[in-house]
Amino acid sequence: MADARLRRRSVLTGGALLAAGAPALLVGCSSSDEPGDESGDDAGEPAASTTPPRLEDLDLSDWEVVRGQFALDPELAHFAAFVLASHPAPVRAAIERWRDAFDADPAATVAGELAHDEEVRTAAAGYLGVRPAEVALTDSTTMGLGLVYHGLPLCPGDHVLTTTHDFYATHEALRLAAARAGAEVERIALYDDPAAAGADELAGRVAAAIRPQTKVVALTWVHSSTGVKLPVRAIADAVADANAGRAEADRAILVLDAIHGLGADAARPGDLGCDVFVSGTHKWLFGPRGTGIVWAAPAAGAAVAPTIPSFTAPSFVNWLTGGDEPSPFGVGNTPGGYQAFEHRWAVTEAFAFHQAIGPDRVAARTQELATRLKDGLAELPGVRLVTPRDPALSAGLVCVDVAGRDPAEVVQQLLDQRIVASVTPYSEPYVRFGASIVTTPEQVDAAVEAVAGLAR
Ligand SMILES: Cc1ncc(COP(=O)(O)O)c(C=O)c1O
Repeated sequence: MADARLRRRSVLTGGALLAAGAPALLVGCSSSDEPGDESGDDAGEPAASTTPPRLEDLDLSDWEVVRGQFALDPELAHFAAFVLASHPAPVRAAIERWRDAFDADPAATVAGELAHDEEVRTAAAGYLGVRPAEVALTDSTTMGLGLVYHGLPLCPGDHVLTTTHDFYATHEALRLAAARAGAEVERIALYDDPAAAGADELAGRVAAAIRPQTKVVALTWVHSSTGVKLPVRAIADAVADANAGRAEADRAILVLDAIHGLGADAARPGDLGCDVFVSGTHKWLFGPRGTGIVWAAPAAGAAVAPTIPSFTAPSFVNWLTGGDEPSPFGVGNTPGGYQAFEHRWAVTEAFAFHQAIGPDRVAARTQELATRLKDGLAELPGVRLVTPRDPALSAGLVCVDVAGRDPAEVVQQLLDQRIVASVTPYSEPYVRFGASIVTTPEQVDAAVEAVAGLAR
């Protein structure tokens, strides 16, 4: 077998392997933190068939200009745009460029895989204030949660703490991982009435439920069931207190499903204090559909064993050479197999778009619109606001009960008035609005008026 005779040097420069159909990333394998430092990295550059809008030419201080980057149907008020992103113009252009490049010369384009994955990691890391090597690339929040919970070294007798408010993806990934490991998963309620939730109570209930055997605290930053945003920093401090005096291997880690915070709230992992931050990039960040990231702090990342083989060095090179060099978390936990690279590599433009607007401005706008919506809805007779009014405990999601009526019916009647809302996919469903950079104050007022009409 030729593989066995391959010397490491030839693997690292591996044109012969590429010709033989091996993953293109073998051209210039590197586990470096630094993007673009491999040889031959102009291979696979996209053809310039579509002229991207230059961010510096756009006046992104004007929210109408921001909204103008989206191809959303202007006849509709898009309060469900966060469910699955519409792509803003720079992201659409990047996807088209990469698609054209693949259609013209797939072999040359995929040869740039390592460099372009690294560009995405670098863009994500810049936005999150972390190191590129700590960022894995996935296709969704769900994939990221599955990789993390299945990769952690859970053992019989270990305790995993989660809540009744988390989404199916967390509950099911934990159920499957714990069943394999013989660990126990406990779900607790952090609040009885979401609208009346308080930061001390939320953090206090987590703190009180942590046991000596707790290895994972699995939470969601912003609950898609109610719109409650957790005081993650206070919870992280409680986890740190519980870890005081524990050996490194016995520490509990805080894993966050961050999907409804990323792109809606400007806090970064370092502000939140979590150990692992899992998110799709195809909701509030308005990145390419079918993309996501996982960030892990060094100690937590080292504990996560990859589930799906990475196509990136050093994993693939180890296989070829018999080596055992460990992968950094980011590349080791980026699932291999060829991907929809035109989407993955356009994640760079999604982060750049948000950086150009300013994450703090995006968060402030989201909060301003959500507050306006909550203030309006809270005044309506027959309407029960489910989401806390306090902006410290909520983000862009706003959930309501409308006169005890079937939420699906209400959502349909709103749609009849060209207002797109959604129903929370939980056992206790609510009507849910997402106020975001694609909605306007006027649309918020129209939504309040429409709900008022339906509640009468
Ligand atoms: C809290 C939460 N986590 C995860 C998901 C799934 O996200 P993804 O499609 O990125 O897997 C959803 C909804 O789609 C959600 O509400």
